[in-house]
Amino acid sequence: EASDAELTARILAAKETLGERVVVLGHHYQRDEVVAFADFIGDSFQLANAAQTREQAEYIVFCGVHFMAETADVLSRSDQAVILPNLAAGCSMADMADESSVEECWEQLMDLYADQRTTDGKAAVIPVTYMNCSAALKAFVGKHGGIVCTSSNAATVLEWAFARGQRVLFFPDQHLGRNTAKAMGVPLEAMPMWNPRKALGGNDAQTLLDAQVILWHGFCSVHKRFTVAQIEKARAEHPGVRILAHPECPMPVVDAADEAGSTDYIQKAVAQAPAGSVFGIATEINMVNRLAAQHPEHTIFCLDPVICPCSTMYRIHPGYLAWVLEALVDGVVLNQITVPELVAADAKVALERMLAARP
Ligand code: 13P
Ligand code: SF4
Repeated sequence: EASDAELTARILAAKETLGERVVVLGHHYQRDEVVAFADFIGDSFQLANAAQTREQAEYIVFCGVHFMAETADVLSRSDQAVILPNLAAGCSMADMADESSVEECWEQLMDLYADQRTTDGKAAVIPVTYMNCSAALKAFVGKHGGIVCTSSNAATVLEWAFARGQRVLFFPDQHLGRNTAKAMGVPLEAMPMWNPRKALGGNDAQTLLDAQVILWHGFCSVHKRFTVAQIEKARAEHPGVRILAHPECPMPVVDAADEAGSTDYIQKAVAQAPAGSVFGIATEINMVNRLAAQHPEHTIFCLDPVICPCSTMYRIHPGYLAWVLEALVDGVVLNQITVPELVAADAKVALERMLAARP
């Protein structure tokens, strides 16, 4: 097996040879040994933008997870190839909403809402999907008048949807949907959950008629581990601590935190704080550790000291990065992510609505 120094030399040499023909994009949750080679680091919204604007690059090497690489393929030009260094880097939350279950849900809702008259021209329901889903679901949303959101623009996107529909069907992440809608004043009783294994998602018809946001049952296995007890412990041990939580955390955790926001929000909050601030952060450990290293003027810790990294983000190893870059030097494109044209066209509609709805 190649040593770290050897891998570093190989990656740098391949990048040097390829020059502007390649751009390496990295999500904040990637490990340090990968982030070190990224030309651009960001949250999922910023990476979607970056994929659309790196015009000179023939190859976009995406250090993140599968749905992000698909999004990059949809938004980039057709003559640009998007490469995911390890094809096994998926997302368990994205896998919780499969196309056929969502279509089945949609049909049931359409039947239920068929008799509802709207006086204001609004649709009965608008589908909104979190970025963390397959391109096929983004296409579904695009076809049905809906929109994509990320954790950094979920409130803006929900406002967009409420301006066009009486209700929202939100998937796959119940927590992002609930936390965002609650902060906008939607009562919890107007946010039923949809269980795809049950008729009407396990709800009675009246509940769905009264609903404002119907939440899919998905969650992030990393963020669901954070607890209120961890926050209480941090407050007891560090008086004055500022608790920042990612909105994929469960509602009681977001409610007990001082602030909730996307990975980019957390980065900025830390960067703008006066020196000597203390932060307890509820998000992925690689990003929190990197923030702590970048900001020695603050005390920064992850709320869950034994939390695992996102295991799928972690599947991007520098060895895979070296492998795909060296292949490109030899003119071979490995691990290309290609969204079929028809799917891409509809997915792009939903993504471009999001990019246009940004705050
Ligand atoms: P953001 O990058 O939008 O904050 O999302 C976090 C995440 O879980 C990515 O999978
Ligand atoms: Fe998916 Fe959660 Fe990992 Fe993000 S952190 S890629 S939502 S499993």
